[in-house]
Amino acid sequence: MYNLKSSVAALVLLGQGIAAQNSSWNHSLYTSSPGVFPSPNTTGIGWEDALQKAKSWVANLTLEEKVGLLTGEPKGPCIAGNIAPIPRVGFPGLCLQDGPLSIRQATFASVFPAGLTAASSWDRDLIRQRGEYLGAEFRDKGAHVALAPVAGPLGRSADAGRGWEGFSPDPYLTGVAMEETIEALQEAGVQACAKHWIGNEQETQRNPTLSPTNKTIEAVSANIDDRTMHELYMWPFANAVKAGVSSMMCSYNRLNSSYACQNSKALNGLLKEELGFQGYVMSDWGATHAGVANIEAGMDMDMPGTIAFFQAGTSYYGQNLTNAVNNGTVPESRIDDAAHRIMTPYFFLGQDQDFPLIDPSSGPINILGVQPYLDSFQYGEANVDVRANHADLIRKLGSAGTILLKNTNNALPLNKPKNIAVFGNDAGDPENGLYSLSLTGNGDYEYGHLAVGGGSGTGRLTYLSTPLDALKVRAKQDGTNLQWILNNTLLANANTAAGFGAIYPQPDTCIVTIKTWAAEGNDKANLLPDYNGTQVVENVAAWCNNTIVVTHTSGPIVMPWADHPNVTAILAAHFAGQESGNSLVDVLYGEYNPSGKLPYTIAYNESDYAFARITNSTELRLTEDPNAWQADFTEGLLIDYRHYDYYNLSVQYEFGYGLSYTNFSMSDVKVQRLAPQNLTARPTNAGTMPGGNPTLYDTLYEITVKVKNTGSIAGDAVPQLYLSQPVNPSFGLTPVQVLRGFEKVALGAGQSRTVTFPLQRRDLSFWDAVQQQWIIPSGNFGVRAGFSSRDIQATSGFSAL
Ligand SMILES: *[C@@H]1O[C@H](CO)[C@@H](O)[C@H](O)[C@H]1NC(C)=O
Ligand SMILES: *[C@@H]1O[C@H](CO)[C@@H](O)[C@H](O)[C@H]1NC(C)=O
Ligand SMILES: *[C@@H]1O[C@H](CO)[C@@H](O)[C@H](O)[C@H]1NC(C)=O
Ligand SMILES: *[C@@H]1O[C@H](CO)[C@@H](O)[C@H](O)[C@H]1NC(C)=O
Ligand SMILES: *[C@@H]1O[C@H](CO)[C@@H](O)[C@H](O)[C@H]1NC(C)=O
Ligand SMILES: *[C@@H]1O[C@H](CO)[C@@H](O)[C@H](O)[C@H]1NC(C)=O
Ligand SMILES: *[C@@H]1O[C@H](CO)[C@@H](O)[C@H](O)[C@H]1NC(C)=O
Ligand SMILES: *[C@@H]1O[C@H](CO)[C@@H](O)[C@H](O)[C@H]1NC(C)=O
Ligand SMILES: *[C@@H]1O[C@H](CO)[C@@H](O)[C@H](O)[C@H]1NC(C)=O
Ligand SMILES: *[C@@H]1O[C@H](CO)[C@@H](O)[C@H](O)[C@H]1NC(C)=O
Ligand SMILES: *[C@@H]1O[C@H](CO)[C@@H](O)[C@H](O)[C@H]1NC(C)=O
Ligand SMILES: *[C@@H]1O[C@H](CO)[C@@H](O)[C@H](O)[C@H]1NC(C)=O
Repeated sequence: MYNLKSSVAALVLLGQGIAAQNSSWNHSLYTSSPGVFPSPNTTGIGWEDALQKAKSWVANLTLEEKVGLLTGEPKGPCIAGNIAPIPRVGFPGLCLQDGPLSIRQATFASVFPAGLTAASSWDRDLIRQRGEYLGAEFRDKGAHVALAPVAGPLGRSADAGRGWEGFSPDPYLTGVAMEETIEALQEAGVQACAKHWIGNEQETQRNPTLSPTNKTIEAVSANIDDRTMHELYMWPFANAVKAGVSSMMCSYNRLNSSYACQNSKALNGLLKEELGFQGYVMSDWGATHAGVANIEAGMDMDMPGTIAFFQAGTSYYGQNLTNAVNNGTVPESRIDDAAHRIMTPYFFLGQDQDFPLIDPSSGPINILGVQPYLDSFQYGEANVDVRANHADLIRKLGSAGTILLKNTNNALPLNKPKNIAVFGNDAGDPENGLYSLSLTGNGDYEYGHLAVGGGSGTGRLTYLSTPLDALKVRAKQDGTNLQWILNNTLLANANTAAGFGAIYPQPDTCIVTIKTWAAEGNDKANLLPDYNGTQVVENVAAWCNNTIVVTHTSGPIVMPWADHPNVTAILAAHFAGQESGNSLVDVLYGEYNPSGKLPYTIAYNESDYAFARITNSTELRLTEDPNAWQADFTEGLLIDYRHYDYYNLSVQYEFGYGLSYTNFSMSDVKVQRLAPQNLTARPTNAGTMPGGNPTLYDTLYEITVKVKNTGSIAGDAVPQLYLSQPVNPSFGLTPVQVLRGFEKVALGAGQSRTVTFPLQRRDLSFWDAVQQQWIIPSGNFGVRAGFSSRDIQATSGFSAL
């Protein structure tokens, strides 16, 4: 076994080779990032024919034309980004559009549930269908590239402003969601762009700023050790590459002291060499801070292409890149490779044939569109309605992603209540319109239902089903007396019965809806609901003994009222999209038996999240030290449930938890070995495929369990498989257990089914920073199957080696 002390020299050479162990965290290892050069050429693995087409096509271009493929063009109709047409060769250009839950810059498009709600369904099929429909909408609008999906932020910090855009702080769950979404988007003929690579775990100081004396203060540096990089933050991106993702977006932050878009270790080393990524890396918008350094580090496309955001003019790429080739600084072969990487997915997905022309209605939505567009862009029909019947899936996924956290006194499902009162400013219509972009500011609104967050990940609603709308329809059907108060200021001060004076008769059912706004550019300053939501819940609960709380939040909030006896039910729906109200009412009334599970942990107090809050302080805001913003990820692998499990802390609601209106049991856990008896700890060197060494994905074991619906109504169970690796303390803090399988299983009353969880080599391995290899440890693996991370129903074990 490996001795940490004797390996110190090797670790220092590797720069980031030390395993996470907060007692031995050494910040000095993160003050530089090793150089990995030159940038590897694509070999088109899996895309061989398309690469040949791309090569002969690119061979016909001038240097300026090739550089044009690498440089965003602000004078275009696609607000997120454009690559200019090359009319000489009949190339119509590329249209890149946001974002992860909708084609944002468009009319007549659907707004789907956010990634966090989709992940809460734990339903591969629904997640995939969401990707298919999203892909169809991008394509029908003439968008070649969908800037989606998101695996960074992964969710290290509960207060991250973009936590809702992606899926879950668990890399396995996020990895599955990435793979399903990317395959589905690309089957629809649209290029997916996995973002943001990598370490983009906070918004605060994501970009450089000016100090009080106008000195440049560099962006925050996410300092991540090599094992944590592989087992946590890279993991879902490896799934993305394996799924054949066309592009990756490098992030704003620095990683181990070097900007992510010019970090050659991250781009050339980890992404292109180790993971075998064959597509292209584009910058996040304005994340480029050099030119030569970016192209050499492996960044293939600069977006939006200009130094001054969205304004025609100077560029780090463009003419500067042409000059750098002409004066011998950058080899033309690097430009060729970037052009090949950009054009190969275009040919592979058949975007050169019958691809819809750009819907010109995208153009005027451009909030910053000051310049006229290039004449060479070609347009199709305007205001194409791309929504089809997607609302049905949106409604279903909204229900499937709603998590029932508490249900006492048979509060739910509702059965023709006589008298419902609805409370809270989240229940009704948004009073300031249906679109709140707020790219980097606070687009929050007091009155109105929150079905989608802000920033580039938002969507333009064409209508919205609010909780109140949907309840009105149902109340009329049932003859229910439905009343409401939406004013949170009034409710937060309603600490006497008089405060509820407008409500009569006394309701038998009180529904309180609370929300937390979030948008790119800002992190959350606390984990409380907005507009005094905590006080609103407490006041209603003091007055109404059947209080049902519904949360629409960007991530975890603290729920000091969760165990209040009058809070009889709690539902967490996050950002459910345009059918939000209908999705909720379907669950409230049992039209949809809830089956959502928490994709993160809800702890008791804000202080329980202190181990990985964002880096921020008044001192940092006033610093004159360009390097002051350092986020040391000293917790290593121990984020979310891995932290609470390791330190044996009790929590309010654990990862993987969620109730149903029926009950399930689990039994008969069986371990079947598929691996040969002479299995080696190291994978055989089988070359590199997209995703890395292909043998990492060999199935070595199959775990089966029997799941039974023991109740009297049909429902969907989510059996989950957790694995406990044998622990070798010299590799730092190893989680007690990690998710390595899940399945959503529909079961009629009394029905049972056997569920199989395949375990791949990667699932069993840890990343050995010294050997620079995935290694299967010797010793006993614990197999733990259950209905949440803390509801383990059946256990077993095996020794792999
Ligand atoms: C690591 O940090 C946590 C939280 O700061 C602390 O509770 C724990 O004792 C530390 N563990 C080790 C092994 O140093
Ligand atoms: C990429 O391919 C070109 C053309 O074949 C070659 O000149 C160049 O050396 C290659 N670069 C690398 C890093 O292999
Ligand atoms: C190169 O472009 C010319 C038009 O300028 C066209 O006639 C020719 O077929 C192209 N060759 C290739 C290989 O695409
Ligand atoms: C910093 O730059 C701004 C804008 O150019 C200028 O208005 C301000 O006076 C400068 N502050 C100092 C301290 O130089
Ligand atoms: C080249 O880049 C520099 C910044 O490095 C910028 O100041 C200059 O304007 C750029 N030139 C062109 C032609 O875009
Ligand atoms: C070559 O051009 C690039 C881009 O304009 C510039 O950064 C670099 O300094 C130039 N190098 C030489 C040797 O002229
Ligand atoms: C909300 O209630 C507060 C306190 O009663 C009141 O001052 C305020 O005007 C109300 N807001 C609206 C929009 O009615
Ligand atoms: C960061 O710190 C500043 C200064 O203390 C504070 O104003 C701001 O709200 C903080 N931001 C977050 C997201 O906590
Ligand atoms: C919350 O309510 C308290 C009084 O209960 C009030 O002082 C405070 O301004 C309210 N805050 C918000 C954000 O409405
Ligand atoms: C629960 O609600 C009833 C009113 O139905 C109230 O009298 C009681 O005090 C409430 N309980 C708590 C703990 O607030
Ligand atoms: C709840 O309050 C209602 C009056 O609003 C009362 O009729 C009912 O008995 C109470 N239920 C419980 C369980 O206390
Ligand atoms: C393991 O055994 C199989 C036969 O079961 C054999 O084909 C293979 O070469 C062996 N591998 C090693 C590494 O010994």
